[in-house]
Amino acid sequence: MRRILIIGATGNVGSAVLSQLTVTGAQVRALARNPDAARLPPQVEVVRGDLTVPESLDTCLDGIDTVFLVWTAPPAAVAPALERIAKHARRIVFLSAPLKTPHPLFQQPNPSRKLGEQIERLIVASGLQWTFLRPGMFAGNALGWWAPQIRAGDVVRWPHLAAPTAPIDERDIAAVAVRTLCEDGHAGAEYVLTGPQSLSQFEQVSTIGRAIGRTLLIEEMPPDEAQREGLPTMPASVVNILLDAWAAAIGQPAFVTSTVAEITGAPARTFLDWAADHAAEFRA
Ligand SMILES: NC(=O)c1ccc[n+]([C@@H]2O[C@H](COP(=O)([O-])OP(=O)(O)OC[C@H]3O[C@@H](n4cnc5c(N)ncnc54)[C@H](OP(=O)(O)O)[C@@H]3O)[C@@H](O)[C@H]2O)c1
Repeated sequence: MRRILIIGATGNVGSAVLSQLTVTGAQVRALARNPDAARLPPQVEVVRGDLTVPESLDTCLDGIDTVFLVWTAPPAAVAPALERIAKHARRIVFLSAPLKTPHPLFQQPNPSRKLGEQIERLIVASGLQWTFLRPGMFAGNALGWWAPQIRAGDVVRWPHLAAPTAPIDERDIAAVAVRTLCEDGHAGAEYVLTGPQSLSQFEQVSTIGRAIGRTLLIEEMPPDEAQREGLPTMPASVVNILLDAWAAAIGQPAFVTSTVAEITGAPARTFLDWAADHAAEFRA
């Protein structure tokens, strides 16, 4: 049986991977910077570690053969952390992005893309058996972006409402991750993962309104206002990355794949399913 380490276990995708893995009976360990605050399921072994402190990774990786990696730490820490991972593990599943997909949403030059490419290059050169998961926009972004406005009233102001994306439920990314972590046959695979439908941002906000039984007034925010005032839950650098991506994406449908269904045997959840499951978080 594989012994799996989840790095990013307290985050959106890592926590879903962890909860789905624990029901398979796999041997799972979670790395956490602060195990006391991590609030992970009691049956999970939690080991303190920090990607920016390479020597802290050895204990976390002891006896591990497969790693699930989510990277949100600073770029300078990538090379030393991957060196430690490659010393212990044989296999890595990395949560990346659709860096090679020829759709304008995914092809704008930005620092996040550069970091993803750097991590992938180092993983490929490391000798580890690798699998790259390449999800598009997460459905859960809607919680940070729109829930505060929807909880406060009926008006949602947002830039580039015509931009379509195919939001993917983090549970579907996790379901693919679990397959790639537990099964053979995924070495060298790069899975572009999306939700089942292309929906403009306007349609996504309307869908949330439908799920919570309210009619929302959805207003276009000029991009320069978003730049000046910022957008909820994101630093200015991320606002600029998203404004560029959305602007470039307008005018054609979002890129949609059937990879979730092909790998898991179950269709990817719709954005309406996701919104219905999170309705309470949008209600005041
Ligand atoms: N959002 C999207 O639409 C989207 C789309 C495609 C790809 N992605 C990619 O998905 C990734 C983000 O996934 P996510 O939303 O699941 O992340 P997240 O919720 O922000 O979680 C990040 C995780 O990394 C951990 N972490 C941060 N710094 C660490 C460090 N120095 N050492 C050890 N652990 C550390 C955090 O642990 P703590 O609890 O200690 O903070 C947390 O568990 C990014 O790489 C992003 O580029 C996102």
